[in-house]
Amino acid sequence: MNTSIRKTVIGGNWKLNGMPGDCDAFAKALAVSDSVEVFLALPYLLLPEAVRSFADSPVQIAAQTVSQFASGAYTGEISAAQLQACGVSYTLIGHSERRQYGHESDEEIAAKVKAALDSGMTVILCVGEGWGIRGEGQQNRWIARQLKAALSGLDQLPAERFCVAYEPIWAIGSGCAASPADAGAMCTHIRACLTALLGKDKADRLPLLYGGSVSPDNVSDLLACPDVDGALVGGASLRPDSFSAIIRAAEAAR
Ligand code: PGA
Repeated sequence: MNTSIRKTVIGGNWKLNGMPGDCDAFAKALAVSDSVEVFLALPYLLLPEAVRSFADSPVQIAAQTVSQFASGAYTGEISAAQLQACGVSYTLIGHSERRQYGHESDEEIAAKVKAALDSGMTVILCVGEGWGIRGEGQQNRWIARQLKAALSGLDQLPAERFCVAYEPIWAIGSGCAASPADAGAMCTHIRACLTALLGKDKADRLPLLYGGSVSPDNVSDLLACPDVDGALVGGASLRPDSFSAIIRAAEAAR
């Protein structure tokens, strides 16, 4: 990472894990950092509780997705304004599990990015290729297309409220992260794509996160890549000791 231009960001993604009542103990046990930006993406039901539990902490609370709509007849949806009103100002968008199980299209993801940014939220846009795409050597083209599509609805992008997480689907939950060489090369490619889409000034300021089986053991090597500015952590964010160890490793890498 290049700490002279960009902040370091470590995010936890609990996915469909955790129960109401879990947040207080987690907040008490989690490492606090003043040099690394930390967020936790939780199931909707846990968000108000987490906002209270982390009220005195710099940790940001994030949603795992957000509606593209502001209000209306959209059963089951939660809007960016509703999240903001509950104190939640960060959201993931386009996680591969939302693309796969929620059948979220590129168009829907673009609409969500626009809705969230327009309402003042900070967006962590997730992109990533499956094993088949990589096997065909098409990963760079795939990621370029996902980025272009996701940003297609924007007139301008607020760089201080936007990150991209590169999460190769084949590494998520596998226990086997991408090698630092592969993660680093893809993040360099993502920055080149963002430079083409947004200009160099903006692209140079955007934190790029790597996600997929990040652990306390591999995070330092991943963060040593010049274009990897942080990590999005699934399984290892569920326990305060392992997530704290990742936060400490990110501090040490700065
Ligand atoms: P993992 O999940 O760390 O458990 O692989 C990462 C993610 O899907 O965000």
